[in-house]
Amino acid sequence: MSNNIESVLKEDRVFEPPTAFVEQATLKPADVDALYKAAADDHQGFWADQAREHITWHTPFEQVLDDSDAPFFKWFADGQLNVSYNCLDRHLESRGDKIAIIFEGDDGGVEHISYRELHARVCRFANALKTQGLGKGDRVVIYLPNVPQAAVAMLACARIGAIHSVVFGGFSAISLRDRIDDASARMLITADGNYRGGKLIPLKETADKALSEGCESIEKVIVLKRADCNANITEGRDMWWSDAVDGQPDQCEPEWVDAEHPLFILYTSGSTGKPKGIQHSSGGYLLGAICTCRWVFDLGDDDVFWCTADVGWVTGHTYITYGPTACGATQVMFEGVPTYPEPDRFWQMVDQHQVSIFYTAPTAIRALMKQGDEYPQRHALDSLKVLGTVGEPINPEAWMWYRRMIGHERCPIIDTWWQTETGAHMITPIASYTPTKPGSATRALPGIAADILDESGAPVTDAHQGGVLVMTKPWPYMLRTIWNDPERYKDTYFGMYDAHTYVAGDSAQRDEQGNFRILGRIDDVVNVAGHRLGTMEVESALVAHEAVAEAAVVSRPHEVKGEAIVAFVILKTDGGSEKLASELRDWVSEQLGAIAKPDEIRFADGLPKTRSGKIMRRLLRTVARGDEVTQDVSTLENPQIIDQLQARGA
Ligand code: PRX
Repeated sequence: MSNNIESVLKEDRVFEPPTAFVEQATLKPADVDALYKAAADDHQGFWADQAREHITWHTPFEQVLDDSDAPFFKWFADGQLNVSYNCLDRHLESRGDKIAIIFEGDDGGVEHISYRELHARVCRFANALKTQGLGKGDRVVIYLPNVPQAAVAMLACARIGAIHSVVFGGFSAISLRDRIDDASARMLITADGNYRGGKLIPLKETADKALSEGCESIEKVIVLKRADCNANITEGRDMWWSDAVDGQPDQCEPEWVDAEHPLFILYTSGSTGKPKGIQHSSGGYLLGAICTCRWVFDLGDDDVFWCTADVGWVTGHTYITYGPTACGATQVMFEGVPTYPEPDRFWQMVDQHQVSIFYTAPTAIRALMKQGDEYPQRHALDSLKVLGTVGEPINPEAWMWYRRMIGHERCPIIDTWWQTETGAHMITPIASYTPTKPGSATRALPGIAADILDESGAPVTDAHQGGVLVMTKPWPYMLRTIWNDPERYKDTYFGMYDAHTYVAGDSAQRDEQGNFRILGRIDDVVNVAGHRLGTMEVESALVAHEAVAEAAVVSRPHEVKGEAIVAFVILKTDGGSEKLASELRDWVSEQLGAIAKPDEIRFADGLPKTRSGKIMRRLLRTVARGDEVTQDVSTLENPQIIDQLQARGA
């Protein structure tokens, strides 16, 4: 595995942080040097100082790190705080009238929400949750579009100590049901529907399907009217958002919780089994959100920050709901898609709202790059200062286009590597400090101990050799466990080496200057358009179809999406047809959501297996890519199957 990972890409272009940018930045290079030095000198002392500086504590902490039960780490455990207080109340005096959220709907409608107004909305909704009997530790599933009410619902949960689990609006009824059941959520917050790219997404209809079977823990459903699409309301269980908040006071005393109190659970794909409920803490997580906004983006009081992610993903949690608000910043939130009504929507919005920090995914950059230069050229884009990317490796061509066409060679390009599990940025340039390199996430942040190990656990020092990306020290904003499954947490993240070595599941390589380049996953996880999917999940969905006996799912590179899903399918009876292939693709989409829909289905009589019965996925990957098979196939039980698999794809 790891010692076969060899990097082929050689990249010599290096871009220093632009002088004009550094001059106006809040964080100067000397400040960053000081952060790195402090973290290297005293890891725990460094994080304790940051936590005292950036968080308003209700009860100050004395303990910093408790690693007595590794890998179940605790940070600031005897401190108490409230995350929503940190995101809202503490700004009211100094910047109550400052705009917190500039919201733009799919239809172009714009709404400005001040910190004072956001605080009032969160308090009213928090009171509504309490009226419905919810309190500290209760789980609430949020299945909403990317609208301010999603952030309000999340912050309201945080205010009363309830634990939210946001499910992306593109997920299917079955995925929603699985997540509700795993979390034993008492409440579901959803919308009647919403429009994205002009198309109606009937969220309530999907939610009703989910609730029609299982989901016994759900007592109440709050429904936001967003699309006015005649959603079905079940008497006694469902209520409109507007009715729930009607008459509720706009003040709500925060529930002070321990730093380790779970703030949220967010489900993400693993290589085996069902999605994992990644559980984050309150204090440590908040600290990561704040520090990374301040350091990486140089987010300051005059900025307009825009993260284009959906709140259904971790990026939307950290860089919409929590990070920018905790920093008291102004941000743009967008409900729509980059290409509607035209492929210049992003650029038009950047100009209209005078966005200074823009953060998006490589898949969006590649898709917009394909549309042609004329779209960004229609707009000035002169408010931009920093451009970021996240979610998957960015190819140097897209990186250079982003720099040239969007940043006008004036903006640092910040390729941020992190994960749902890591909570916030880990390996990334710091805008005012780090020389950048196309395709490289550069260096670990202060206080983050990243390394690359070989299978024996020895650090890889050869600059051209890849290895397993690990963190050798805990950090405050790391996940705390997998909800309901601490054993799986231990095995998945700390099973390869020891209880202090976090295994990210990615492979990486480091150049002579110490810059990291992420090479991809080491497990059976594919990354489609920046979204992580377990191949297992897609396989399980396929075999749940009555015609399918067995399935194996791999990925091949895709120009825009990064990776595309190819499924090899063995039927119970003969007769794979175009029609069945299309039916199976729709079936997967129905089971898991449209993001998991395979690009290609190949029918075969069998899968390439070793004599011990293991599917040779590496071989299938080669076949899916149309590459020549050079692997050793002598251990295959049925070598003749390779010809068939190749022929069927031609
Ligand atoms: O494989 C890495 C890839 O996305 C995975 C994490 O996915 P998820 O938990 O859904 O979080 C996405 C948003 C943080 C990683 O294990 N990945 C993320 N960012 C990058 C990346 N791969 C290369 N470069 C990145 N900047």
